[in-house]
This record gives sequence, structure tokens and C-alpha cells, in this order.
Amino acid sequence: MGYNVAIDGPAGAGKSTIAKLVAKEKGYIYVDTGAMYRALAIHFLKKGIAPENTEDVIDACRDADVSIRYEDGAQQVYLNGENVTGILRTEEAGNMASKTSGIPEVREKLLELQRTLAKENDVIMDGRDIGTNILPGADVKIYLTASVETRAKRRYDELKEKGEDCDLEQIAQDIKERDERDMNRETAPLKKAEDAILVDSSHMSIPEVVSEICSHCR
Ligand code: DC
Repeated sequence: MGYNVAIDGPAGAGKSTIAKLVAKEKGYIYVDTGAMYRALAIHFLKKGIAPENTEDVIDACRDADVSIRYEDGAQQVYLNGENVTGILRTEEAGNMASKTSGIPEVREKLLELQRTLAKENDVIMDGRDIGTNILPGADVKIYLTASVETRAKRRYDELKEKGEDCDLEQIAQDIKERDERDMNRETAPLKKAEDAILVDSSHMSIPEVVSEICSHCR
């Protein structure tokens, strides 16, 4: 059984940035479960399926194979044998992932992959339901959040740096809608596990958050 750190929280809270740094410092593998939902989202987008069309989404899950490999310590996500890592982090894929991840069959599809990775490795795994649902017995649970304004600004800076055209107001609006969906869906909604440590990073630097989380880990 691996040593397991679960890190959950809303979109743009900095989970992946922080989890990658904690993984490096502690020698864990970083598992980005959002990337798995995004890979399935790419599959649905490629097939031209509307997220509201639940039956078609469920059907499309049957011919989607998502797998993970680690290359130089970095997670690479494969969809039906193709490395899709480079095209996962668009707003389109994120919104599609948010809309389809409420469907139980979509979650079921990724559950074993996530649990197996945690069983076989020391991991820090980020997502929405890791502490509550995927790894309820995790050694450490963190709920990482920040205000909508802070999260929107971070996402904006990230997209700008990649040279993408974007609008701060629109991003804030998307984040609010994403929170609403992620927190209010019936299956595995985003919420703080009772035994999770709450970290609000709105006014914290990256090294401060990393150090706070590392202080709770073995
Ligand atoms: O963390 P992210 O932005 O890459 O995640 C994209 C979407 O995937 C998010 O809006 C909700 C969904 N997701 C989920 O339902 N459960 C997870 N464990 C991770 C992500």
C-alpha cells in the first residue's frame, strides 16, 4: 500500500502547481485526476457529442481507453494510445470535463485507474473527490481553496503566458459556473472531507502553501 496524500479543491486553486512541488520535495508521484476527465472530454469532443446527451456520453466511454505513464517524472495521459497531454488544458476541454464528470459511468470508468495508482505508489493525488470518495483512507487530506477573484486572476495569467486570448471577467464567470456544477452535482460532488485540512491560498505564496502541506506529510 502506498503512502497517499489527497488534495481536493475548486478549479484554479493551484492544486496541480502545489501538488507537483510537494511530490518533488517528498519523492511522491503526482497524479492529476482532472487530466483523466479532460482526456475523456477530448474523446467526447472529437466525436462531436453534446455533454447534455448523457446516453451518447455513456456509449462513447466504451471505446475510450485512458492510461497514464510517467516520463521523466511527469504524468503523460494517453487516450486510445495517443499522448493527449499537450491538449488537455484548454477551457473547452475543462468545461466539457466539468459537464460530463457528473455522470456516474464517466466516474466509474476512471475509479480503478486512480485507486490502482494510489495502491502501488506513494502519491499526491489531486481532484475533487479524492479525500471523500476515491481514497477515503488517505494518510493526509488537504482541501485547497482560494477566492474566485484570486483563482480567476491566476487562470488569466496562466493563459496569457501561453499567448492565449482571454478575458478576466469571462474566466471569473466560468469559474463560478464550474464551482456551481462541481459542488452541486449528485455524484461525488466537490466538498471538504470532514478530516481534511483546510488551506486557503488566497493570500499565500506558492512556497508558503507547499511548506504548510509538507508539514503535514511524512
Ligand atoms: O482539475 P481540472 O480543472 O483539470 O478538472 C477538470 C474537471 O474535471 C473539473 O471541473 C471537474 C472534473 N473532475 C472531477 O470531477 N473529479 C476529479 N477528481 C477531477 C476533476
